[in-house]
Amino acid sequence: MSKPRALILKAMPEEARRLIGEHCEMIEYRSGYLPGREELLALLSDVEGILQTDVRIDSELLKHAPKLMAVSNQSVGYNNFDTSVMKERGIIGTHTPYVLDDTVADLIFALILSAARRVPELDLLVKQGKWGKDGAKAEHYFGMDVHHSTIGIIGMGRIGEAVAKRAALGFDMKVLYSNRTRKPHAEEAYGARYCDLEPLLQESDYVVLMAPLTPETKGMIRKEQFELMKRTAIFINASRGPLVDEHDLADVLAHGRILAAGLDVYCEEPVDPRHPLLQLPNAVTLPHIGSATARTRYDMAMTAANNLVGALLGDRAIHVVPELK
Ligand code: DGY
Repeated sequence: MSKPRALILKAMPEEARRLIGEHCEMIEYRSGYLPGREELLALLSDVEGILQTDVRIDSELLKHAPKLMAVSNQSVGYNNFDTSVMKERGIIGTHTPYVLDDTVADLIFALILSAARRVPELDLLVKQGKWGKDGAKAEHYFGMDVHHSTIGIIGMGRIGEAVAKRAALGFDMKVLYSNRTRKPHAEEAYGARYCDLEPLLQESDYVVLMAPLTPETKGMIRKEQFELMKRTAIFINASRGPLVDEHDLADVLAHGRILAAGLDVYCEEPVDPRHPLLQLPNAVTLPHIGSATARTRYDMAMTAANNLVGALLGDRAIHVVPELK
């Protein structure tokens, strides 16, 4: 029997390539180069599987992929899946949960601490030889405490819980959370208090957005929500850019309506260097590196490879996204 054909749109570690190659005929794009739209659609005409991160899997794409059976995302987020269309066509969609939870939670704390203590801004000041210059007083370098403050987590999934754990056990923070369902474990283990979005925004010193991007959550944090936050609040987004109205965020940061933000994600990625958010000293901006450690990216690649093979062969446990189970 011939092997299924799989289009691999990520550079994969050798072990992952070996695993896929054992069971599939691979068409690989290995060095960061991705096919253009036309080339991609042509390639899809006879592949059964795709392993990738960003390509939108929608009805237009599926029209060009008559044999497609499975799409394996090398990410936990899967907002690039049109799950209702995939369901209709019986396409299996998988992702890579669990292996990145702690790594993304660490990055969220890096953003919290960087924004609170103004790390990038003051790093630049030292390197530019401005330390103690221009009549600087000690208070010009003051930041905000993280320990013993209140954190509000919007979206208490696995990563949200990993953030709550660090906050409560490591930093003695009070934890509030809003979520579709209550999380008894987080309440018991970290003293997390379940609340509506409005009081969470009003009471938190740090507002951490970790909700998934869906048609319902798109644009959920905009002017109205920023207006509810404390003037000293620090806003963190490491989930997906389109959850936030970036122009409203830039506006409240520029006018001191909230204190600072830490961002790992944007509406367009890579973000345009002329974007208003990138002109602000009180916005800490990272290039979507939530899961980007060597160890975690390796684990994600192996999970994605295993998911692809399992979905095509039906011979092992895989991580199908909830909406397609
Ligand atoms: C994911 O896997 O969805 C995250 O955005 C990684 O940073």
